[in-house]
Amino acid sequence: EPVRLKDYRAPDYLIDKVDLDVKLHATATKVVSRLAVRPNPKGRPGASLVLDGDGLVAKRIALDGRELDLQRLDPATALLTPDQLTIIAPPDRPFTLEIETEIDPSANTRLMGLYRSGSAYCTQCEAEGFRRITYFLDRPDVLSVYTVRLEAELAEAPLLLSNGNKIAEGKIEGTSRHFALWSDPFPKPSYLFALVGGDLGSIHDEFTTRSGRKVALGIHVEHGKEAFAAYAMDALKRSMAWDETAFGREYDLDIFNIVAVSDFNMGAMENKGLNIFNDKYVLASPSTATDTDYAHIEAVIAHEYFHNWTGNRITCRDWFQLCLKEGLTVFRDHEFSSDMRSRPVHRIADVRALRAQQFPEDAGPLAHNVRPDAYLEINNFYTATIYEKGAEIIRLLKVLIGDEAFRKGMDLYFDRYDGTAATIEDFISCFAETAQRDLTQFSLWYNQAGTPLVEVAAAYDAAARTFTLDFSQSCKPTPGQDVKEPFVIPIALGLVAEGHGDLKLAASDSDGASVAELSRGVIELTTAQRRIVFTNVASRPVPSLLRGFSAPVRLNYAASESDLLTLISHDSDSFNRWQAAQTYASRLLLRSVELVRAGGVSIRDESFSGALRRVLEDNADPAFAAQVITLPSEADIAREIGQDVDPDAIHVAREALRKAIGRDLREILLATYARLAENAPYSPDAAAAGRRALRNAALDLFVAGDPVEGASLAARQFESADTMTNEIAALGVLAHTPGRERDAALEAFYRAHEGDALVIDKWFALQAMIPEADALNRVRRLMAHRAFSIANPNRVRALIGAFAAGNQTQFNALDGSGYDFITGIVVDLDRKNPQVAARLLSAFKSWRTLEAKRRGLAEAALRRVAGVGTLSPDVKDIAERSLA
Ligand code: ARG
Ligand code: ZN
Repeated sequence: EPVRLKDYRAPDYLIDKVDLDVKLHATATKVVSRLAVRPNPKGRPGASLVLDGDGLVAKRIALDGRELDLQRLDPATALLTPDQLTIIAPPDRPFTLEIETEIDPSANTRLMGLYRSGSAYCTQCEAEGFRRITYFLDRPDVLSVYTVRLEAELAEAPLLLSNGNKIAEGKIEGTSRHFALWSDPFPKPSYLFALVGGDLGSIHDEFTTRSGRKVALGIHVEHGKEAFAAYAMDALKRSMAWDETAFGREYDLDIFNIVAVSDFNMGAMENKGLNIFNDKYVLASPSTATDTDYAHIEAVIAHEYFHNWTGNRITCRDWFQLCLKEGLTVFRDHEFSSDMRSRPVHRIADVRALRAQQFPEDAGPLAHNVRPDAYLEINNFYTATIYEKGAEIIRLLKVLIGDEAFRKGMDLYFDRYDGTAATIEDFISCFAETAQRDLTQFSLWYNQAGTPLVEVAAAYDAAARTFTLDFSQSCKPTPGQDVKEPFVIPIALGLVAEGHGDLKLAASDSDGASVAELSRGVIELTTAQRRIVFTNVASRPVPSLLRGFSAPVRLNYAASESDLLTLISHDSDSFNRWQAAQTYASRLLLRSVELVRAGGVSIRDESFSGALRRVLEDNADPAFAAQVITLPSEADIAREIGQDVDPDAIHVAREALRKAIGRDLREILLATYARLAENAPYSPDAAAAGRRALRNAALDLFVAGDPVEGASLAARQFESADTMTNEIAALGVLAHTPGRERDAALEAFYRAHEGDALVIDKWFALQAMIPEADALNRVRRLMAHRAFSIANPNRVRALIGAFAAGNQTQFNALDGSGYDFITGIVVDLDRKNPQVAARLLSAFKSWRTLEAKRRGLAEAALRRVAGVGTLSPDVKDIAERSLA
């Protein structure tokens, strides 16, 4: 019984106003909800009113003031179960419905609805958590104006927050309790409702919008962590300013609050005026957070803030449109980070993440459309496809129609759909209008799953002075979609000439490409095949294809090794300089893996080391150089191989290449390491972070070439580090060398950071990823550590998630122990927190690409999960789709 997009029907009733009265109590919170309901003119006249619930206990229900007798409910009047309240024949006019429920936030281990994190009360309602608080039309196309009265013990919860503006507060005479009254003037769907109650430490600031509105900003964290929220506050103010200039979007309430909690299923949540965050994306200090953590905080703070327009002011008609808000908001946060940091370096990081997270999803049994057409459990669709590919598609649209039409299209979208629950068609229609272009083919990106493959063949004819590029596109079948129509694929390209500059592409000098295409350097592939012939080409050029990763495709072009070396050193497009190095490395590694599997040794290639040396010598942009000298990961290589994957052989081949490069580049790695020593007070900015990134990448390769001296460098760095970036990088090196020093370093790190759960998560993750046969035992031992808790999603992801997703050889151990371990945890955890359990199980998303022995073991483990009788819909869905 999946929910299907084609079955969408407007709601039969609308709820214009919601008055909530919540009396917080650890185990018996009382919620009184007064709903102003009316028949929807677009609904079915006379239909029953069916409200969603999820495990609710109703105490009282009154319709227009008349109490229903819940003990002897007349089935002709109403039906009541924990999961549904049906009013059989409601009045054919506006009416009020009053519902009282009692809920137990302390028993809520799913972390959906109202739950407790530490001593605080908080909520998570997206996607369907509001129905765990009260009966409601819990769907995004029902927009209501909320008034919320919160009441609690003053000592337990001096801070009481909800959406919108606070309009009253006070003590309740003669009691130890107090209340706060919040009112949100903007109609919103229930998934954007939030409340927080607790005793938290706060920092405050202010932002004045372009049109002069003074906005009070608050970030609320665990007492004692206030100083750690300063960077998040700074990122928030920059986000608010940026959205005004980049998209013309201003904030619309007098107050904006962010609350950080330590128990949270996902990253963060954009509740109107009250964002709730996993504290991992709020708290930072130089000695506890890495540069990457800082970058994530900046991005997630921006992401949630940007949702105020893309998600809240304009929301989704139904959950099939999830990418309407998520893909678009990720696109916006990528743009923000690119403007705050280095655009080219950021692009490389985004593409690395897309390939690591989304490509395997698209290539495996869990592949789905960016806009799915059916789901069993919506929580399983908060995926890299909807978020990251969703963002890529918008970037692609911008490339297709140009910056100006894109910006106008965004303005039109904000104008036309403000205050509504919109669809992907609504969104696309705005750009079709501003670009005066038919975007039917573009919309296939939303409706066809799978990563297209673009194959390119090149031929130079010296006599005719022509250079021919033959493009073709194809896309493998994905579950439920056997045949794919051709996509529209913009391919940014250039021809790098002998003297290493770009050949000027003029229309007169080509056949098969338009003037517009050539002047922009972007070819549009719209059919299965396309040929372009460049004429008057004096010598064979080196094609630089898919510059800036202009479309989310796999590119297959048999560049010669010397072409790749030319691109690494001379391409004017820095993304493709990096890409050429990755391609070169992956070619070497793929050949090595073959040799290793055949019992031989891996290959050496001094020209590759030479190319990396030149990048290090070039010394222009450390952050970029760090990306270039970082080899493809084991998972990247597995993905490139694509079938009959042997993770052990990949590990051996990759280690051998690291060692060879470490030896070849010993001197310059050491010099780079020395040159980039910290010499200024800590700053999290991109330039300083880039220097640390390059220094630590150099250390990593140096150690591979000289483990003994490398370990002593790492030990010194570990002891003297005053930033978490340098400390954890050094510990990572030490952790990969067995022995007493490793144990001592791990112990020292633990003692230094005991009590800071987010730092201890790094300690868990790092150990879970040690590629040694003992890793699983270590993980099991650490599960018994007092700092571990299966109830906390961050701990689970740090220890167990890191093992499953970040330890290729041990998760895929040849005896099946890794698979059995993970599936065992999934089944246990499912009883507490299905969402986190389901997410963990998706570590099996590439199981079909493994060699036969492992594939058999993985399948057997998945079958055992699928056979458990009591699974949540979340885990059942992932298990069954994985096996289908
Ligand atoms: N809308 C949130 C964000 O991306 C994610 C919330 C998802 N939560 C969930 N339980 N499915 O910013
Ligand atoms: Zn989001």
